[in-house]
Amino acid sequence: MTNIITYITHSLHDLYPLRELQSLTAIICKDLLGLDETAIYLRKDIKLSGNGQRLLEQAVDRLKRREPIQYICGTAYFYGLAFHVEPGVLIPRPETEEMVDLILKENSGGIRVLDIGTGSGCIAVSLAAHLPAGRVDAWDISGKALSVASRNAGEQGVDVHFSQVDVFGAEPGEDKYDVIVSNPPYVGEKEKETMDRNVLDWEPGLALFVPDDDPLRFYRHIARLGTGMLLPGGKLYFEINRAYGPETVELLNVLNYKNIRLIKDLVGNDRIITAIK
Ligand SMILES: C[S@@+](CC[C@H](N)C(=O)[O-])C[C@H]1O[C@@H](n2cnc3c(N)ncnc32)[C@H](O)[C@@H]1O
Repeated sequence: MTNIITYITHSLHDLYPLRELQSLTAIICKDLLGLDETAIYLRKDIKLSGNGQRLLEQAVDRLKRREPIQYICGTAYFYGLAFHVEPGVLIPRPETEEMVDLILKENSGGIRVLDIGTGSGCIAVSLAAHLPAGRVDAWDISGKALSVASRNAGEQGVDVHFSQVDVFGAEPGEDKYDVIVSNPPYVGEKEKETMDRNVLDWEPGLALFVPDDDPLRFYRHIARLGTGMLLPGGKLYFEINRAYGPETVELLNVLNYKNIRLIKDLVGNDRIITAIK
């Protein structure tokens, strides 16, 4: 018999605050051990199988090394769907759900969408799930990201057309889109000093960082591509670094985009920019 709550709390109390331990315990029980949540809330002693006990011990060891719980359990929730995640692929963030929500409020029907830098596929798969008459294409430079994203599309039963593309080598082709969306790398190297270890040590640098001397390089390049790849009236949606809202708006102005809006996230930071070609 193992009291899971006691075991996790005793093993990790000097590394994580109590509130975080409670939420980690709930996630381990549900996503890793497949246990009924009621038993956990009632703080019952739970009989784990030999395999369950091993999984629990391994999870605690990995948490001691500050690995994100989503990699340990292999699951992250995004826009109401469960996405497989593993090291090498960015864990989807709640701010990005806000952008997906905005896109779905402002677009419907058989539209064509391109997601640039798809990572786990969270944006592309969620949009495909809610736009059954549409067509969603998605690019990433990372083969690992694309294999995880394809798995997620398969698990959600949606069709997304994935391609391995380095956005800096891409040129407008025959495919035209109603919506181009991107949450590209946007964290400056200098911001590393203030980042949590569980992000810095575990999540892929390729998905996070941009050089300090050109933090808007992805936005400039994608916005230029958009001028050739968006249909007339087509829309661009960017998730941005909260430190560069006005600068990102300005680069869209220079490229003659219309109706440029800078939108704050739920915590009040500049987070989404949208514009019309
Ligand atoms: C911030 S992550 C976003 C992942 C996912 N869309 C999300 O919102 O969680 C940025 C993604 O861009 C990809 N990426 C980085 N450089 C790229 C490039 N030059 N061309 C295409 N994709 C790139 C990374 O592999 C990563 O998956």
